[in-house]
Amino acid sequence: VNDRIVVKAIEPKDEEVWNKLWKEYQGFQKTVMPPEVATTTFARFIDPTVKLWGALAFDTETGDAIGFAHYLNHLTSWHVEEVVYMNDLYVTERARVKGVGRKLIEFVYSRADELGTPAVYWVTDHYNHRAQLLYTKVAYKTDKVL
Ligand code: ACO
Ligand code: ACO
Repeated sequence: VNDRIVVKAIEPKDEEVWNKLWKEYQGFQKTVMPPEVATTTFARFIDPTVKLWGALAFDTETGDAIGFAHYLNHLTSWHVEEVVYMNDLYVTERARVKGVGRKLIEFVYSRADELGTPAVYWVTDHYNHRAQLLYTKVAYKTDKVL
């Protein structure tokens, strides 16, 4: 299954499929965002002057978009370089535990390398055990309180 998954930077033609996943993600996060958030966020992914990016995972056999990662970079007082923050990660329910989430994180890591940033970080709910089953394998946990 893993060979069937490709992760690509979001393109303008992806707006409809991204929107479908973005709505599912809001359901997972138990929130409903006003529609202008989706419109604005998607436009920012596409805008080359804005440092907010999106990546989509596709099943190459069906052509379906099955997950996304959103990330940005920002200044920090701790490094000369900027650091990357992964804002969102989502895999549609039927595609889970097949390595899609891992591939999305690896894509963000490789983009961070290209950007010359020394660190990628994210936050999750302490009770999100399913996500942490993956995170403990691809990252390390800090003692920080947000
Ligand atoms: N017992 C042991 N290990 C398990 C179990 C289990 N029951 N279930 C999964 N795992 C392991 C898998 O073996 C796998 O590890 P591996 O790569 O070594 O095989 C890992 O957990 C799951 O990895 P993936 O298959 O790559 O992850 P998946 O595609 O399922 O995506 C994700 C994970 C994104 C958390 C998905 O479950 C999801 O979208 N959940 C809802 C949204 C969510 O929680 N998003 C994260 C919010 S935090 C944030 O956005 C920064
Ligand atoms: N019991 C109960 N309350 C206490 C006690 C105590 N023993 N000691 C302090 N407090 C309360 C004070 O009453 C005060 O609350 P109040 O505003 O209601 O009166 C509060 O704790 C302390 O507030 P300030 O006096 O405004 O804080 P201070 O000037 O002491 O600065 C700081 C706090 C910055 C954490 C300082 O202790 C420090 O520099 N520590 C070392 C560096 C550090 O830990 N920095 C934070 C790292 S995290 C980050 O940078 C984002």
